[in-house]
Amino acid sequence: LRRQLVECRYDIDRLAPHFLSIYQSLIPPSEEKAKQKQLLLSLERLVNMQWPKARLHLYGSCANSFGVSNSDIDICLAIDDDGDLSKNDILLKLADILQSDNLQNVQALTHARVPIVKLMDPGTGISCDICINNLLAVVNTKLLRDYAQIDDRLRQLAFIVKHWAKSRHVNETYRGTLSSYAYVIMCIHFLQQRKPAILPCLQQMKATYSITVDEMECAFFDQVEMLHNFGAQNNESIARLLWAFFHYWAYCHDYTNDVISIRTGSIISKRAKDWTRRIGNDRHLICIEDPFETEHDLGRVVDKYSIKILREEFERAANILQFDPNPSVTLFEPY
Ligand code: CTP
Ligand code: MG
Repeated sequence: LRRQLVECRYDIDRLAPHFLSIYQSLIPPSEEKAKQKQLLLSLERLVNMQWPKARLHLYGSCANSFGVSNSDIDICLAIDDDGDLSKNDILLKLADILQSDNLQNVQALTHARVPIVKLMDPGTGISCDICINNLLAVVNTKLLRDYAQIDDRLRQLAFIVKHWAKSRHVNETYRGTLSSYAYVIMCIHFLQQRKPAILPCLQQMKATYSITVDEMECAFFDQVEMLHNFGAQNNESIARLLWAFFHYWAYCHDYTNDVISIRTGSIISKRAKDWTRRIGNDRHLICIEDPFETEHDLGRVVDKYSIKILREEFERAANILQFDPNPSVTLFEPY
């Protein structure tokens, strides 16, 4: 375990306005949200002609409040599957329905890890992926959105971390680096751990929202408007938090023993989860517990090559924020 307990540069807070303006420039304009809603409604109308009781839900970055401008949108078709249609039949039927409307590039990807129908709406230029009955994703989207409403610094931190990860090509699960979803969870965990804490642990509080999905109970406190002052005791700036985030993942996280868990608001041990050895393709080289599917390690995509790249990138980012005279440029330099 390499611990480097350095103090951050004395003038770190002077960088905050630079990072805030980068954050501002990444926020999608409100017209974009309106267009997405409209497209969702018109798709739902179309789907309801075939399946009157089916519903469409937005999930992912277009609904969790961590989406930048011009992202594709993720939609979940919620449909009772007690009929005779298999998931793939539904997907193919859905593709048929959409094709006959005036949507473009309709494709059913039935063999993908998460099977989807892809399409592009020529009216708005918006591309979407529609999956079937992935309600856990809709619920974890709500959890992330609720966290984002508690303290603005979460959204600021996550936008900048995602922007960094995309610029440095460490947001590519097919190449062994982490998903955007994993990065947001890392940010939530980090803010839960600050002293004083900037975020609470919603899943440890009295549940005001509860839903059972795939026989799993998902429950948490969701009256987040009551938590607006939660982080007020901590006045760390976004620049300081960004530095501390990368410093934690570069020098302080115990990769051998620890699992980060926003469900418990703490660190838990790999041993307790039996994540100490490779099973099949799951390697557990960086352990990030999914808040609801607790047997899911969001770091399982990381292999012995990509863990090196990832850790070098965390170190690079921490060092830039520590020493570089113009970090808000260098940090995002394309790889
Ligand atoms: N998701 C999940 N489990 C994962 C990965 C993703 O449940 N291991 C779900 C989450 O609901 C997440 C959504 O799929 O919000 C989309 O994931 P991802 O593409 O990683 O995140 P986005 O927020 O859509 O980010 P981006 O802006 O990069 O598209
Ligand atoms: Mg997405």
